[in-house]
Amino acid sequence: MILCANFKANKTRQETRAYMAVVESFVSVNEIDETVIVFPPFTALEHISRNVLIGVQNAYPAQNGAYTGEITLEQLEEFGIKTILIGHSERRHVLGETQEQIAAKFRFFADNGFAIIYCVGEPLEVREQGDEALMRYVDAQFQGIDCEYSDLIIAYEPVWAIGTGLTPTNDQIVAMHTALRAKTHAPLLYGGSVKVDNAQAIMALENVDGVLVGSASLSANDFCEMIAQAAELKQ
Ligand code: PGA
Repeated sequence: MILCANFKANKTRQETRAYMAVVESFVSVNEIDETVIVFPPFTALEHISRNVLIGVQNAYPAQNGAYTGEITLEQLEEFGIKTILIGHSERRHVLGETQEQIAAKFRFFADNGFAIIYCVGEPLEVREQGDEALMRYVDAQFQGIDCEYSDLIIAYEPVWAIGTGLTPTNDQIVAMHTALRAKTHAPLLYGGSVKVDNAQAIMALENVDGVLVGSASLSANDFCEMIAQAAELKQ
């Protein structure tokens, strides 16, 4: 299983240090062999080798240059970062990234050998239009994306489930993941209001290879509990 913690714009550098100490010790004491990835804010990056992977939530697709306010490859390399989240719904809908920009970012970081967690997912009004509209919408989020890229993980995150406490039914998750499975061999994560109470049931579903957790990952203990649930599923 793959478990990702997306901090978004939460936690300071000190808080992230304390968090990582808890999660790293949990992973090592319990000999966890699930893939665990934490996405802290840029200000909390440190160049320390860890038993938990660190990724970034975003970056600008360039080596360096005149991109005020952005972070590029050069700065990520200094911290040994090789993992990036691309296409998150907050970047699409709050920050206004277009599919074209997202695809350019994808190509750049794929060319530079990054592990890419690529997010897709529909808003509620699309879900309400039925299955055909839903698949058309999600398909369009794959424009310019190489589904065969070897270091790719896909995260299905319905926009209406992110940070709302709402989740799709198990059948809806399985239906989407089965459709995605026909497109790509990449591992498939579910994201959107995953928490201790529902994580294990979601991870047990067909074609679900892990979870991308936002709010509930902010508690190190809750995140460790979800890691333990993943490990338990294997037994
Ligand atoms: P949430 O966020 O777990 O708070 O719903 C998930 C995400 O945005 O990745």
